[in-house]
Amino acid sequence: MEKLEQLYEGKAKKVFKTDDPEVLMVDYKDDATAFNGEKKGTIQSKGIINNRVTNHLMKMLEDQGIPTHLIKEISDRETLVKKVTIVPLEVIIRNVAAGSFSKRYGVEEGKELLAPTLEFSLKNDDLGDPLINSYHVLALGLATQEEIDTIAKYAFKVNEILKKYLLDLGIKLIDFKLEFGKTSDGTIVLADEISPDTCRFWDKDTNEKLDKDRFRRDMGGVENAYEEIMKRLMGETV
Ligand code: C5P
Repeated sequence: MEKLEQLYEGKAKKVFKTDDPEVLMVDYKDDATAFNGEKKGTIQSKGIINNRVTNHLMKMLEDQGIPTHLIKEISDRETLVKKVTIVPLEVIIRNVAAGSFSKRYGVEEGKELLAPTLEFSLKNDDLGDPLINSYHVLALGLATQEEIDTIAKYAFKVNEILKKYLLDLGIKLIDFKLEFGKTSDGTIVLADEISPDTCRFWDKDTNEKLDKDRFRRDMGGVENAYEEIMKRLMGETV
């Protein structure tokens, strides 16, 4: 498979065309941003960890019935994925109050929620990814009711699978963000990444943060946290 011209450069990844029109190549960078790009930095080897952790988790989810965009990892930083049209929503699932949920609703960070929650944000950097509900999604034509229902069903199933898998590795899944895409035949598949950039992972016993909050909140130990996640999930380091 040949890597052709760059289609797009995001905050954490570049996307390239390939000689197959249905296949794209993702190239993960070490660049880190937070607060809608206001804070910038580099997390050494993050691109490798996020690529490998994402693929590891997507493979597991695919095996358990969640369709994903993953085709094949081809190097430490590069992966072939199905070309999809991204549904412009950030789908956020929460098990424990943290981050913007704690702030918005005045709930102490770390409080266990009585049931997992789902929220949508509109993917739009200029608007700061505002919260949006399913009525808005329908009104704006961003997805159909059937697509919204499929996305919510997959997101909650991903949560159940990941929560159990991670707990066995001593990691509490606090919350995470997913993105979905539509393939050329209209199938909804899980896309983007699942990594310490997009999830909150806390150590089960100490509640130590093992994710991007260490970067967002200038806590130090960022690289070690990412490496710890890779070690626990894959038994390997970079
Ligand atoms: O900031 P907030 O509490 O809303 O984030 C919820 C979850 O979604 C966190 O795991 C965070 O890493 C993830 N997220 C993300 N990309 C965004 C916003 C949130 O990966 N743009």
